[in-house]
Amino acid sequence: MNRARPLQRGTVLWLMGPTSAGKSTLAARALAVLREMEVPIIGYDGDEVRRLLGPDLEFGARDRLRVVVALAHLANKAAEAGLHVIVAALTAGQDARDHVRRTVGNLKIGYVSCSIDVCARRDPKGLYRKAISGEIDTLVGYNSEYRPPDDPDLVLDTERSSVDKLVPRIVDQFIEAES
Ligand SMILES: Nc1ncnc2c1ncn2[C@@H]1O[C@H](COP(=O)(O)OP(=O)(O)OP(=O)(O)O)[C@@H](O)[C@H]1O
Ligand SMILES: [Mg+2]
Repeated sequence: MNRARPLQRGTVLWLMGPTSAGKSTLAARALAVLREMEVPIIGYDGDEVRRLLGPDLEFGARDRLRVVVALAHLANKAAEAGLHVIVAALTAGQDARDHVRRTVGNLKIGYVSCSIDVCARRDPKGLYRKAISGEIDTLVGYNSEYRPPDDPDLVLDTERSSVDKLVPRIVDQFIEAES
């Protein structure tokens, strides 16, 4: 059997930031560009894993942590198999962030930054509208503070920079890793 070059662990870029900051938008665009470049990469979104874990999942700290634990597990397994990974998830709690740093190898943290005022104006899922009307009281950023992560490797300010400007900065993280 021909031996390919030894399997290299992939890089995991973990995008975190408040709701509507643009994590999923940037991840989807960057994944499309990287696939076009034939970079082996997979994306995991917090919403997708939340759906998989079932309809009983709530938006409180405990269930938010469960989502992050599942994402970290999936990201690690894919990276072990040599794929690069982009995760897009709120990751608001310190316990969740500690878990990610403790368990995910070859990790880069990307902070998707945007003021809550602008996030609330975007509001593609209508969550800020629900929080403002009192229908929900668990929206981090509105009902409680969204604390920026300590020491991110990359800060993507979606209030000041367009998607087109930010995507190449994400792509570069993986091009560096491949070379
Ligand atoms: N510079 C930008 N970067 C990313 N998104 C932007 C930017 N400017 C405007 N947007 C818009 O902001 C919205 C961001 O929504 P998106 O679902 O990507 O946020 P999210 O961070 O994944 O939120 P959630 O935590 O709820 O999943 C989209 O409608 C997107 O088109
Ligand atoms: Mg999203």
